[in-house]
Parts: sequence; C-alpha cells; structure tokens
Amino acid sequence: MKALYSEGLNTRDFTKKRYELYNNVFESGEDILWSKEHKAWFVFNYDLVSILLKDKRFNANRKKGFIDKLEAQDSEKNILSSFYSRWLMYMDEPDHSKLRKGIQVPINKINSTTPEIAHLIAKEIIIPYKSKSNLVVDAIEDLAIPFTNLVLSKIMGLGLSDYELVLREANNAIDFLWKPFPNKSDIQNTVNSINSSFNIIRNIIKNDDYSPNSLFDLVVKNIGNDEDRLALIINVAVDGHEPFLSAVKSFIFFYAHCLAYDEKLLEKISLEQLVEETLRLECPFPYCARSANEDIHINNKTIRKGDRVIFLISAANRDPKKFENAQGIGASKHHNLTFGVGSHFCPGSILTKKAVIEFAKIFISTLSNKKITIIEKKWNDSFGFRTLDKLILSIED
Ligand code: HEM
Repeated sequence: MKALYSEGLNTRDFTKKRYELYNNVFESGEDILWSKEHKAWFVFNYDLVSILLKDKRFNANRKKGFIDKLEAQDSEKNILSSFYSRWLMYMDEPDHSKLRKGIQVPINKINSTTPEIAHLIAKEIIIPYKSKSNLVVDAIEDLAIPFTNLVLSKIMGLGLSDYELVLREANNAIDFLWKPFPNKSDIQNTVNSINSSFNIIRNIIKNDDYSPNSLFDLVVKNIGNDEDRLALIINVAVDGHEPFLSAVKSFIFFYAHCLAYDEKLLEKISLEQLVEETLRLECPFPYCARSANEDIHINNKTIRKGDRVIFLISAANRDPKKFENAQGIGASKHHNLTFGVGSHFCPGSILTKKAVIEFAKIFISTLSNKKITIIEKKWNDSFGFRTLDKLILSIED
C-alpha cells in the first residue's frame, strides 16, 4: 500500500494532493476504503460509484439527526427542520420526487433559452478584449464572475442586484451545515438568514420584480405551497452558483493550459468534448455523501447500517480502467460523473453545459489569434469543494 494513505485517508491528503492520492488508490487495486478520520467509507471506482449511487439501500438524509441534537429553542429547531427538510440533496423518497418535480419542470423549460442568454452575455463580456493588446487579465474577476452572475440572474429572471442579494443571504443560511458543532450564535444567525432570505423573495414576488417565463416565475406558478417555493428558489440559487462559476473558471484554465503545449488540440476533439473533459477533470463537488439503510456487503467489505459513505465522483472521473487518458484531456468514451448519478442527478447539468459551451465558443473565436499564458493560478480544495481561487492570464497579440 502506498505511503500516501497508509496512515488512513486524511483530509490533508485530499486537499493538498487529491489526484496523487486517487492514483495511489487505483494502483493498489482497492475500491473501497475506510477513513478513521472521517468515520466513513470512501468509494473510488467508477463502476461502483455509478451503480451504488442508484442503490436504494443508501439514503441522502444526513441532517435530520443533526438538527434534532442541536441545543436550540424549539422555535429555532422548527425553522431549521422545515427549511432543511425541503433541501433536495438531503431528501429521500417519496418527498424528494414530489419536490424535485417542482424544479425539474421549470428547468426543462429554461434549458432551451439558455444558449441564447449565455451567447449574448459572453459576447458582451469577451468581445471588448479583441481590440485590446498585451493585457493582464484576472480571469475570475473580469470574466468568470460577471458571466456567471449575469447568466444565472437572467435565467432566474431577477435583476443582478436582487440575484446577488438572494445569493448572499441564502449562503449565510446554509453555512452552518459545514459546522460540525454549531454554537448558539451560529444557530441564531442561520435562523435569521433563513427568515431574511424568505422575506427578500416574498418581496420580489409581491412587487412582481421578476421576468415572465423565467425560472423564478415558473417555480412561483408551479408550486402552490409558500415554504416549498421559497426553499426551492433558495436551493437552486445556492446549489447552482458556485459549481457553475467553477466550471467557467476551469474551462478558461484548461484552454490556456492545454493550448500552450498542444496548439492542435481543437483539431482532435470538438469544443463540446473539450468542455466535457474540463468538467470531468475538475469536478467542483468531489463527492456525493450517503448513509446505509442496512448492512451492505461489497467486495469483501461490510458497510454497516448507519455508516456514512462518500462516493468520490471526482476519483471515478479519473478511473484509469474507464478513461484512456484519465489524467488529461482526451476523447473520453464514458460519461463523467461530475453532476452525480441517480435520483439526485443535478437538475442544472444541461443548462450549465449549454452556457459553458456558449462561453467557450465566444472565448475561442475572439481570442484564438492571441497568445494566452497563465501567469498565476491557485486551486482551493476544501475537501467538499474544489475550485480555482486565482487565475491571472496574459493575453498578447
Ligand atoms: C458545473 C456545475 C454544477 C455541478 C458540478 C453540479 C453538481 C451537482 C451534483 C454532483 C449534484 C448531486 C449531489 C448528490 O447526489 O448528493 C447536484 C445536485 C443539484 N444541483 Fe447541481 N451542479 C451544477 C450546477 C447546478 C446549477 C446551475 C443548478 C441550478 C440551476 C444546480 C442545482 C442543483 C440542485 C437543486 C441539486 C439537488 C438535486 C437533488 O438532490 O435532487 N446545479 N449538482
């Protein structure tokens, strides 16, 4: 067994040298490993991750017990459990399917309008760079963030400032999920943020401050129950923003990085494949977590009832048994698992891909005659999320 995980699977190894760790596990032939630190099973293998994420013996609700055990007033617990019992990623059947329909139907309608929205916004942001020469560009602040916020606010049907306001407040409302032992003030702040997010959305509805046929409009029309619709709007705003932004940043990074040593890359694979590959190689949510409903025996290991299981979609995406050029851009034959698998499969996957493809088209057609070099980059891996924190480019004629 290679040194990197002989001491057990540690957060430090995941966050500092994630892909080296995956390689060592794949070389060892292990598929499932127990982590003492996380008190959880980790599944790496592509086929196992794909099959087990559809297996009904695993459930998604890991938050009910967490809220029950909090030292909080009953009124606070009621607000927290009412809100989180409507958070799709933590819901199980039959409630999950019912609420999921409430968002899936509106998103399906929005998918067809996404390319046009993304195309116009990409042009507005990128084309000004065509006439400028010898520039240093902060790809995150100047390109990825404006593109993401403008596209997602337009898709939602909100003005940019209302969208950013909902997002800010809603992010405060879910921050406490990342705290294993939230204290009294964390709980109070969370409850205040849930209430305040609800009020912001209620005001937008009351003032009719949203576009017809937008995601916001369709959710409001599609869902009668007030708490369901408010929770869903917050859910979509929060779950969509960071990974979408991350996908745009990763595309810019890979484009600049790969073309530096392979100018003919886009003669070998299509632009759509390039976007798929950037999503496969840099998966913003590295895992989907579940717990076992019963004892489950897999490959000589027993996952006990109640055990937590971390399905590492970002490892599965680099499984050498599945992908010929597992660590680099290639013409992969298998689907990547970046958007999850099974009943919780990301409802925003199609719109994200369509939008990033439009961004890519405009980026490449505008800047293909220029020399793009990465001056500075910094990946931030916090175990549960991986993204670029810094990406500075030089763009020369
Ligand atoms: C690159 C962009 C994105 C990535 C990588 C991504 C990834 C994921 C993954 C892996 C899951 C499944 C989690 C699990 O099974 O535990 C998920 C669920 C979800 N995503 Fe996305 N997502 C992205 C963009 C979006 C967008 C743009 C939206 C909204 C417009 C969105 C909304 C959601 C929602 C609401 C869920 C929960 C679905 C459910 O549990 O039924 N995501 N996403």
